[in-house]
Amino acid sequence: MSSFTPPGGAVPEPPLWEQIADGALADGERLQKVLARAGFGSRRVCENLIEDGRVDVNGDVAVLGRRVNVDTDIIEVDGAPVGVLPGLVYYLLNKPEGVVTTMVDTHGRETVLDFVPSEPRVFSVGRLDIDTTGLLILTNDGQLTQFLTHPSHGVEKEYIAEVECGTNGVPNGVLRHLRDGVDLEDGMTAPAEVGQPEPGVLRIVIHEGRNRQVRRMCEEVGHPVIRLVRTRIGPLRDTKLAPGQWRELTIEEVRQLSSAVDLDGTDTVWE
Ligand code: URA
Repeated sequence: MSSFTPPGGAVPEPPLWEQIADGALADGERLQKVLARAGFGSRRVCENLIEDGRVDVNGDVAVLGRRVNVDTDIIEVDGAPVGVLPGLVYYLLNKPEGVVTTMVDTHGRETVLDFVPSEPRVFSVGRLDIDTTGLLILTNDGQLTQFLTHPSHGVEKEYIAEVECGTNGVPNGVLRHLRDGVDLEDGMTAPAEVGQPEPGVLRIVIHEGRNRQVRRMCEEVGHPVIRLVRTRIGPLRDTKLAPGQWRELTIEEVRQLSSAVDLDGTDTVWE
């Protein structure tokens, strides 16, 4: 970096040659370069993706030679938004019990932000209540957060709930009720997937993200939750992550997550 100061003291910032080197004056970066950085393969492979018409920029099919501004352009491959902005981070945390998901806690309690790097600043994708443990995504990607938390996109969340019940477990009629919808004070819940792998342990998959939804559903049907764990968000599982541990999502996982967003009204089912 040059320390040259022109007469009059005005410092050109940044120097022109650096802007040219960064491509800033050339109006963004080549699309295949951005896709390659996001893990779609070599530049040649990414050029093929573009030539095959599988890449959209701002809703239009991109052609080879297209340049993009990763700060402002929306890039999609096969209809799935691509999380490619440099500086974006995606963490998967196994939230421990007793930790709040709010970004700042006025009561001085531990928050999920205490578990991940403080820079860059991230925020949680949805919430888990203080007593619930399990998977939570933290990111600075506002676009993906918006997609994942918007009720109409319906990303699946899987929970394992240990509930109060007799030795025979929760009756089938009650399981059906949970599946069909429960009348809560904020309205009926959408159809859910509900199974009972062992008496008193329910596996519940919901698409909504209402406050304390699983606890309220179980309470409403007469089987209050004793322990609740979120075990899956869309395609994301991680049985090795202990409570309090976090890791970065892989590019492939970010891509899968974007694809899981139900943009066209069809459900994506994950095994
Ligand atoms: N349902 C709940 O009851 N609690 C959560 O944290 C998430 C879903």
